[in-house]
Amino acid sequence: MQLVTEDNITGLAAERWGTARDPRTAELLTALVRHLHDFAREVRLTEAEWMAAIQWLTRTGQISDDKREEFILASDVLGLSMLVVQMNHQLDPQATPATVLGPFHIEGSPELGYGEDMSDGVPGTPLFVHGTVRDLAGNPVPGAVLDVWQADAEGAYESQVPDIDEARLRAKYTTREDGSYCLRTIAPKGYSIPMDGPVGELISRTAISHFRPAHVHFLLNVPGYEPLITHLFQEGAQYLDSDVVFGTKQELVVPFEQREAGPGPDGRTMAEPWLEARYDFVLQPVGRR
Ligand SMILES: [Fe+2]
Repeated sequence: MQLVTEDNITGLAAERWGTARDPRTAELLTALVRHLHDFAREVRLTEAEWMAAIQWLTRTGQISDDKREEFILASDVLGLSMLVVQMNHQLDPQATPATVLGPFHIEGSPELGYGEDMSDGVPGTPLFVHGTVRDLAGNPVPGAVLDVWQADAEGAYESQVPDIDEARLRAKYTTREDGSYCLRTIAPKGYSIPMDGPVGELISRTAISHFRPAHVHFLLNVPGYEPLITHLFQEGAQYLDSDVVFGTKQELVVPFEQREAGPGPDGRTMAEPWLEARYDFVLQPVGRR
């Protein structure tokens, strides 16, 4: 029998978890054991600290449900989500960069036509986002579906507003033959991540800003191209340089330009002032690195 000591326990535990039948699982678990043990050694983890961490993880699980993903939030604010995105989407520098999905995407958003309004009466300043979807060679990508979602003018998603069950401020738009798209919505506001749970508890012990800059989310899953999950951020918005989930990239910051009442980009007349954002999404073909 091999006696367990402070010096040999890491090797023994890694050896045990290395027996996982799937080789990748064995790799992941043995590395996890090594890094966890190194962490405990580096900080000389006390029993009280170990228990506090266990209780924090327990609360993080308990507050999560089908609408709230506190573990994803924890991963986001620790920078892990964005690191995983960066490692797995090393796209051509010309392609639109990927960012985190975030917790508010929902399947099955309504399909709208060119220039149709996804705000559907939600109060706010009208915003048109339009441009093209194209490939790295500049060719238009017709029939590409842009799945779009965002917060309202108060910074809230529908799951955070009581008494709202149906889809709100989310829609799917399809590019025309020339690759063009045009969506109408309202200007979103930057928002705080939920601060009433275990993640908020930790953040409130730091000097970290718990806000995200104003943005619109996009998901483009077009056959033949790398799936693209990204955001567009409003140029000049607050918190651009301190996004709590590390999602901001310079290439995704676009001006929301002020326009007076008159013809909108879809040809229809706007009775009130509106904002215009132009952006061309560039997709990378599958298999090209
Ligand atoms: Fe968001």
